[in-house]
Order: sequence, then structure tokens, then C-alpha cells
Amino acid sequence: MTVSMFISAVVGSPIFAGTTPKLQKPERWTKRPKPSDFDQPILKAIALGINAPSPHNTQSWKFKIVDEQEMLLYVDENRLLPATDPPSRQIHMGAGCFIETLIIGASSLGYQTQVNYFPEGYQSQADFGQKPVASIRLKEGGAKDPLADYIYKRQTNRKSYTAEKISQATFESIKANAGKSHSRLIFRNEDLTDLKNIFYQGLDIESRTYRTNEETRRLFSFNEKQRAKKRYGLSMPQMGYEGLTKTIVELAVDNGNPKKWHDPKTIDKSMKSIKKAIDSTQGVVCWISPSNSYLDWIASGRDFVRFSLSLCQFGMYAHPYNQALQEFDEMEELSVELDRIWDVKAGEKIQMMVRIGKSKAPYYSYRQHLQSYLLE
Ligand SMILES: Cc1cc2nc3c(=O)[nH]c(=O)nc-3n(C[C@H](O)[C@H](O)[C@H](O)COP(=O)(O)O)c2cc1C
Repeated sequence: MTVSMFISAVVGSPIFAGTTPKLQKPERWTKRPKPSDFDQPILKAIALGINAPSPHNTQSWKFKIVDEQEMLLYVDENRLLPATDPPSRQIHMGAGCFIETLIIGASSLGYQTQVNYFPEGYQSQADFGQKPVASIRLKEGGAKDPLADYIYKRQTNRKSYTAEKISQATFESIKANAGKSHSRLIFRNEDLTDLKNIFYQGLDIESRTYRTNEETRRLFSFNEKQRAKKRYGLSMPQMGYEGLTKTIVELAVDNGNPKKWHDPKTIDKSMKSIKKAIDSTQGVVCWISPSNSYLDWIASGRDFVRFSLSLCQFGMYAHPYNQALQEFDEMEELSVELDRIWDVKAGEKIQMMVRIGKSKAPYYSYRQHLQSYLLE
């Protein structure tokens, strides 16, 4: 058996099937800040908020503490994704993900949250990292949001999903449980061949375009020691590889050696194993916003978090497949094709597309120490 066959066999195997998310208790406090380590309510709320998903796990968030119940949120201009996310749309969705996770988390601490978007205005890329995306103020009171129980359990899962069909009724229940949404959500559970092809082709283009593949390489860690030190970005276990396969794959890319990483043979092998996971897809969800403003980006990130936490409550995972939505030239043709498939109207924008399903719990991703996000 060749390495690639072995990888495909393991990642695509039914031994991954059938389990639901489990609390990652032992890893939680070694990998993520602990709210009870902080006295100020705003720091406790931040410690919960940073469990949010973010594109490429960039955690592109900076916080200026105003007082013990108020803060300003900025995107981190040094943690953008200029190759894969030229307008920084996904980065701002990540800011929305943080806001929603913080709000839900703060409700479990006995606080309501007031969010004031762009308190100093927000006109162009020159404002990224310089002007706040939002001011966030906590106020005593309000009820706990039941989704708060899933903040630490929610994870992106890139493994193969079980063959269990996901009915329209199940989707509607997950959506209703998530609550109100800014973006329009659509779901498909039949005839998924066209969407699976888009997933595959999108990732293939991103992997074979040097500058986008290089951007991903730079965000990768290649062993546990590096992951524990860096605390952001991606890695092979986060991609779904585990055990011996993970070790083989990490060795195969030789500590991120650019020659190995960009070698078409490496990309072929990786695409082969990715295809198995794509082929296991039983349901796809898409978020379409009415326009494509900064506010649409942030609000869609907030929608995505609510839905992801609700999915988690139903014992399910999401795996975003956003490549075909990305705004770089090589992706243009696929992007137009995807808009046609979902019948996107003029002015609307697909902000997010994910496959959903059940699978074995994946590797638990790191977050940075809380101090790393704080501005003086
Ligand atoms: C706006 C946005 C876009 C994302 N796009 C992708 C994607 O295209 N492919 C993917 O595998 N993960 C994607 N993710 C998931 C992130 O990589 C993931 O949230 C991050 O690695 C942290 O891991 P966690 O979600 O398990 O906490 C996206 C997340 C966000 C917020």
C-alpha cells in the first residue's frame, strides 16, 4: 500500500463513523484560556469569545480594554489573508464569529451585551486594524442562551461524515434552534454531485495556485511542539489526519519544506484523501446575504456561529468549503458557476458554504494566550 492509498483508506474509512461531539475536558485549559483565571467580566467574556471559529484559525482579533465591562474589537491587520481573502471578507466574518460567541458566552456569566458597529466609521482597507469593528459593552442581566453550553464543544470537522441522511426537517430544526439570521440560509441534501465537484475544484485551484497554497503553508505547524508554541493557524491533525497517518503526512511534507509542500505529487495525494471526505457529504448549507457590505460580513459570521453551535447541540459538525467563494482571479469561473447553482440574485453574496454531518470528534485546536490579543 502506498502512503497516499493508506491516507485515503484511513481518512475515508467508516471507522470514523457514528460518534457525536464530546467535551474536550483534558485539553481545554492547556489549549485555551480559562475564563475563571480573570477577574474582570470583559476578560472572562473575551476568554469565551475567542473559542470562535476564524478563517485558517487566524484568530485575527485585537482588543482594547476600555474598562472592566467594555472593549473595542479590531481585526488584526498583521493577520490577514491577502492571497485567499483579498477583500478580507472572511477575516471580518471571523470578527462576527467572535462577537456572537462572546455574546452567547457572556449570557452564561449573567451579562447582556450591547454591540455598536464601527463607532469611528469604517470606509476602506486603510481602516482595517486602525479603527474598531465594534465597541462591545456588558450590562448585568438577561437570560442564559442555551447555545452557551456548546462553545467549547463546537469544532470544525474535516473528516468523512457518516452515511446518515440529513432530512430537511432536521435542517429546519437546527436552523430554528439557532434563531434569527441576517443571511438567508439554504440547504440541499439530494443530488449533491455538482456541489461536491465545486468543493473539490475549489480546493484544487487553491492548492495549485502558488501564492494561495503558500499562504496556507505559512500558517501551518508541523508537530505538536510547534502547535503548542504558535497557538494559531492550521496543521495536519486539524485537517482530519490522526495517529500514524498524521505522522506519515507530517513527515511527507518535511517540516513544511516549500519544495515538498508545493510539489504536484504532494497535492495529488492530499486531493485524493480530501475527495473521500467530500464524497461522504450528505448535506450542504449556504448563507446568502442581501448585499456585500462590511456589516453583511460581520452579521453573516454571527449567523454562522449560531448555526454551528446549534448543529453541535444536535450532535453534528460543519466543515466550511469556501474556496469557490474567494475573490481571486483564478477562482472567478468557479465562483460564477456556484452563483448559478444557488441562483444568487444581483447584489447578493454567498458568504459561507459548509457540509454538515456526524463524525468522530476531531483534534482540538489551540487559541492564543489572552494577553496576546490585548492592545495597550
Ligand atoms: C469565515 C470562515 C471561513 C472558513 N473557511 C474554511 C474553509 O474554507 N475550509 C475549512 O476547512 N475551514 C474553514 N473555516 C474553519 C476554520 O479553519 C476553523 O474555524 C479554525 O481552524 C478553528 O478551528 P475550530 O473551528 O475547530 O475551532 C472557516 C472559518 C471561518 C470563520
